[in-house]
Amino acid sequence: MPKLYWEKKDENHTQKSNYSQDEFQVCELIKNPIISSLASDNVISKNKRSRNQKQEKGSTTWKNLLIWGENKSIMGSLIPKFSNKINLIYIDPPYATGSNFESKMFIGESNTFEKKKAYSDIWERGIDEYIDYLYDRLVLMKNLLSENGSIYVHLDWHVSHYIKVILDEVFGKENFRNEIVWAYPAASAKTRKFFIRSFDSILFYTKSREYTFNDDPGIYMEYSDRVKFALKEDDKGMFYYRGGSHNGKKLSQKVYVTNKGIFPRDVWTDIPYIRANTLEYQAFSTQKPERLLKRIILASSNRNDIVADFFCGTGTSLSVAEKLGRRWIGSDIANQAINISRKRILDVWNSNDLIDWKKKYERRSQPFKIMRTNDYTQAVNIYKDFLVENIQKKDKISLIQETKFVVNISEKDSMITVDLVDYIVPNLMLIKDSIKNRIKMFSDWIDSWSIDFNYQEHSFTTAWISYRTLKNRKLDLTSIPYNYEEKGKHKISIKVNDILGIETVQDYEVVIS
Ligand SMILES: C[S@@+](CC[C@H](N)C(=O)[O-])C[C@H]1O[C@@H](n2cnc3c(N)ncnc32)[C@H](O)[C@@H]1O
Repeated sequence: MPKLYWEKKDENHTQKSNYSQDEFQVCELIKNPIISSLASDNVISKNKRSRNQKQEKGSTTWKNLLIWGENKSIMGSLIPKFSNKINLIYIDPPYATGSNFESKMFIGESNTFEKKKAYSDIWERGIDEYIDYLYDRLVLMKNLLSENGSIYVHLDWHVSHYIKVILDEVFGKENFRNEIVWAYPAASAKTRKFFIRSFDSILFYTKSREYTFNDDPGIYMEYSDRVKFALKEDDKGMFYYRGGSHNGKKLSQKVYVTNKGIFPRDVWTDIPYIRANTLEYQAFSTQKPERLLKRIILASSNRNDIVADFFCGTGTSLSVAEKLGRRWIGSDIANQAINISRKRILDVWNSNDLIDWKKKYERRSQPFKIMRTNDYTQAVNIYKDFLVENIQKKDKISLIQETKFVVNISEKDSMITVDLVDYIVPNLMLIKDSIKNRIKMFSDWIDSWSIDFNYQEHSFTTAWISYRTLKNRKLDLTSIPYNYEEKGKHKISIKVNDILGIETVQDYEVVIS
């Protein structure tokens, strides 16, 4: 079978199990917190929260995972526990386009934003470097995939032809199932020198010949308007249109069909690109539509299966997996992608239901953990876009270390209320004017803040949170009162996430007498 060779293939890939295992750190456990904008309760208490938790559906010990870090070491660390356990992997990696991709950072309650780099897709050693990078990761994904599992690799014309050869090598040519063409209108294309490029390729492979594939009504494509218009219902509730032909002659016999649409072919033309006026829009330039992931996840997994996306971006696949009752694991190297995904899953109750699109989902997310690898060097590179040019690395580090906030903690009848009253970014001269000048009050810096009222060393469990979304920019600066049922000392931990991506955590002690 032909194989693809690239610079350093033999050097780097002589041993297939070439991966490092890093330790993970749990940064946050999100288990049925009180969401400020949703709160119908006016008091929180430990007993009330644990009663709510008992009502969770599905497995009791499993927690969905959102992991911040480089996915090669993340996958390496997942192997001891998850080898042959993941039922479906969808990835939408960089496509070797040679460009940087942007997202928008909104400031305070206004609709003004600053553009910032979401991620870089520039490869200094060219296509060889890119292929080398993806090859490693595909080998790890094969290890993680269950025997009846499937992988979907989302790419476009830049590299899909190379990666298809690589997928044949890693997964076996016999396990190729489809090259799905997701065609969308390319309204802004200006070229008159060649035909306008307007589709992505999604390469679908399975780990073996025995794999999950569901003929589910939710994956069907809608009929064209012409067919929809011609459909009629008979007195038994069956749908038909009049048509058919014999010997070249048109007939008008009844052709019976289901009303759920047509079983999809490999060319998908019924899913538009994300628009800014939709609920799912996250202002991130390569965000994919939930409808696309719905078809993939319904077809290639069952309820309670594990779905993973190691390049999760804004968390589209995680949100869809959540709403379809799958367990999920997501990772991304960019902390802003992790922040967006965290809020998107928290806010899932407020997003479109996938079965009845016109309704909202209305249910809260299952518990999930946010983790990161013990690799702190990445923290230093995050804020470059927001800083004045030519500053030194050590200044960036000090900026990150010195942010502070001020709270008032008040007690009344064993109930504690927290007010956030100030946020201080000490090295303001390092921050670009275009951002600084738009900050009118301290809370404009803040994207979300959360409280753990019963903090146990090293494990932050969110009990209450207020966060801004693109559609609801309001932030509550006063928490709901927390009712301590036990007297004595209690530790409170408070976490503030700002719009620059800086996370500040401060701990306090309260005494209930
Ligand atoms: C095309 S975007 C994914 C968009 C996503 N499908 C969505 O709907 O929002 C690719 C993502 O891969 C992430 N990424 C790139 N290299 C990575 C790596 N080595 N480890 C983890 N994440 C990576 C980028 O930060 C970016 O968020």
